[in-house]
Amino acid sequence: MAIPGYIQIDHSLAGLKTFANTLHPAEPVFILTDSNTHTYCLPLIQELDSRLQQAVVIEIPAGEKTKNPEYLFYVLDQFLAHRASRKSTCINLGGGMVCDLGGFASSIFKRGISCVHVPTSLLAQLDASMGGKTGVDFKGFKNLLGTFYPPQKVFISHRFLSTLPEREKRNGLAEALKHALIADKTYWDLLKTNPFAQTELLIKKSIEIKGQFITVDPFEKNERKKLNAGHTIGHALESWKLDTETPILHGEAVAAGLCIEAFISHQLGYMHTQTLAEITEIIFSFFPKINMEGYSVAHLLGLMQQDKKNESGKISLSLIREIGRASFDDYCDNQVMEDALTYYAGL
Ligand SMILES: NC(=O)c1ccc[n+]([C@@H]2O[C@H](COP(=O)([O-])OP(=O)(O)OC[C@H]3O[C@@H](n4cnc5c(N)ncnc54)[C@H](O)[C@@H]3O)[C@@H](O)[C@H]2O)c1
Repeated sequence: MAIPGYIQIDHSLAGLKTFANTLHPAEPVFILTDSNTHTYCLPLIQELDSRLQQAVVIEIPAGEKTKNPEYLFYVLDQFLAHRASRKSTCINLGGGMVCDLGGFASSIFKRGISCVHVPTSLLAQLDASMGGKTGVDFKGFKNLLGTFYPPQKVFISHRFLSTLPEREKRNGLAEALKHALIADKTYWDLLKTNPFAQTELLIKKSIEIKGQFITVDPFEKNERKKLNAGHTIGHALESWKLDTETPILHGEAVAAGLCIEAFISHQLGYMHTQTLAEITEIIFSFFPKINMEGYSVAHLLGLMQQDKKNESGKISLSLIREIGRASFDDYCDNQVMEDALTYYAGL
């Protein structure tokens, strides 16, 4: 397994500096940040090159609530106001929210301007910045609008992680656990013990695993669907909670989704009891249980019914079979789904 060529992992960001030098002096360059990455990360890249100092900086509020059509159009307005052409570049400096929204805006402005990700959260470094999925949430549904638009380059540096809050670091771990569960038991064993002591290794390992799925199935027709393990239920929980006073992070929702979907896999006879116990134990060792007070099965099912993987009106799941192996295009009836939510709520 190898790191895909368009991704550079380099503490010093030398690759970004070299890239900045190649930018056309007459074409506007944009740097999209959120309010946190504007404060903590922008100075680290602007010191690299004068082209980055002169770039048009677009700042949007931090948080998932910003990943919506209103801010998408705000970014497009900024492209227009500053005369972006097809030769312009947008550098998305932030976590998965900024990469998804900036990638989407880049993909549709004048049918596509160049898009570069500089991921600054652990989750974005080991997952969201690769694979070309872009998008925004719409009408309460996660990533309902979006495109496949691979970034031209991804520059990853450890330097950004020093200002990332602890809760956000844990958040990133959920996608790494998912990568291990669907493809690599050895990686799972490594993650079980003090994963934060070796974040650079996590980033490489996760990128290698995700890269394999994307290479064989870039547009998610089959194998790539395995990367959605934990996400059918995770996205529904994330969307439900986003509308409450206690929103949860994407990784926290995915971690809960992995537990609940493991229960479904067990109920359907695909997973051993011992495997279910191990997955539940390890996930709970890193993530607190989501407060399920007031949850409605009907509401969560309604959210899942809009999942992009669904076919013929059936909710599609990508279920773990054993640690290191998953499947896709799995289905369960509503009663099994309800039982699984009840199981998690009662843990
Ligand atoms: N496109 C994909 O393939 C893909 C994959 C997984 C997740 N996602 C999406 O990614 C999003 C989640 O990503 P996320 O967890 O990075 O969320 P995020 O982008 O909201 O970032 C999390 C928080 O960390 C802050 N932050 C980021 N970098 C920082 C730094 N270096 N220092 C201090 N604060 C920093 C942000 O401002 C934000 O408050 C979700 O919208 C999810 O749907 C996309």
